[in-house]
Amino acid sequence: MRAAVAVSQDYDHPLDGLQVQEMPDPEPGPGSVKVHVRAASLNMHDVWTLRGVGHPAEKLPRILGCDVAGVTDDGREVVVASVIGDPSAGGGDETLDPRRTLVSENIDGALAEQIVVPERNLIDKPAALSFEEAACLPTAWGTAFRMLFTRAGVRPGDRVLVQGASGGVNSAAITLAVAAGARVYATARTPEKQEYARSLGAIPFASGGRLPERVEVVVDNVGAATWAHSLRCLKPGGLVVTCGATTGGAPDPELNRVFYQQLRVIGSTGATRGEVESLLRFMADRDIHPHIDRVIGLDEVKDGFAAMIAGEFLGKIVVTP
Ligand SMILES: NC(=O)c1ccc[n+]([C@@H]2O[C@H](COP(=O)([O-])OP(=O)(O)OC[C@H]3O[C@@H](n4cnc5c(N)ncnc54)[C@H](OP(=O)(O)O)[C@@H]3O)[C@@H](O)[C@H]2O)c1
Repeated sequence: MRAAVAVSQDYDHPLDGLQVQEMPDPEPGPGSVKVHVRAASLNMHDVWTLRGVGHPAEKLPRILGCDVAGVTDDGREVVVASVIGDPSAGGGDETLDPRRTLVSENIDGALAEQIVVPERNLIDKPAALSFEEAACLPTAWGTAFRMLFTRAGVRPGDRVLVQGASGGVNSAAITLAVAAGARVYATARTPEKQEYARSLGAIPFASGGRLPERVEVVVDNVGAATWAHSLRCLKPGGLVVTCGATTGGAPDPELNRVFYQQLRVIGSTGATRGEVESLLRFMADRDIHPHIDRVIGLDEVKDGFAAMIAGEFLGKIVVTP
């Protein structure tokens, strides 16, 4: 089968290590199932793998792609929860299993014609979502769902700031927080992206812009470029939830502000299978659909990642093999 494969790693030139090539068809072992890929989506995680961040070189070559929707050999239409872990090793939450991984870390990923995944990770695809839409959800949307509702406890009426609007996690966070009844502010770096934030239901601001009020919750996966602004936008006792650090992971922590304003800084990673199921139900019930920037073939995956690295896209980029 054909697949998009990480063959080498380079922090500054990540796409040099990406090849579309023939790979052996995967065969399921005990407890795992083959899924014929109907759609997959791109995530920043794939770029980190190609940069050599969080993915040891010994694990190459590795088929990329965390997110997939497809069909099993017996015709079941499924979405694959992207966190692979043992709930009992994480106190009932597989994202807290110290050995948990993401699809494409210890097993080959979704940018291929077929993938083999643990049977436990299969979730029935709701009829209300296409394969392309469903393939956008487990990692970016699942992470946003967990950040907002499990970790930050966002409630109707809360004020929420999302740092960045155009990306996968951030566009999902805006959409889900709006649907949950929060007033959502979002920063974005260009007028076009600010308009996009508005189309998702947020009140847009330029990056670093002064909001009309302080907020209970900030969603920040941008990191160094936005951290100081995130802390300044919080009410006393407010909470910033981070799931990433696209622009750098070591900003000034501003401990004086954190203790004096009694702020809370919490992390969030991935989503449990149960959270992805809840997300799918919520989206089907509310008729929410992820924004798809473009649908490309395997041969165009490099262009898709280039657009992602340059920030020249809105929402999610989907691949149909
Ligand atoms: N822990 C987890 O489980 C988990 C899961 C998913 C993602 N992540 C991490 O979360 C981050 C986002 O992932 P993604 O897949 O959503 O990436 P993405 O689609 O490429 O989105 C990147 C976002 O970052 C913003 N951004 C980038 N550079 C910026 C800068 N210099 N200043 C301000 N904003 C900037 C963009 O805002 P604009 O709208 O202004 O362009 C955009 O919204 C990545 O670091 C990823 O590794 C973590």
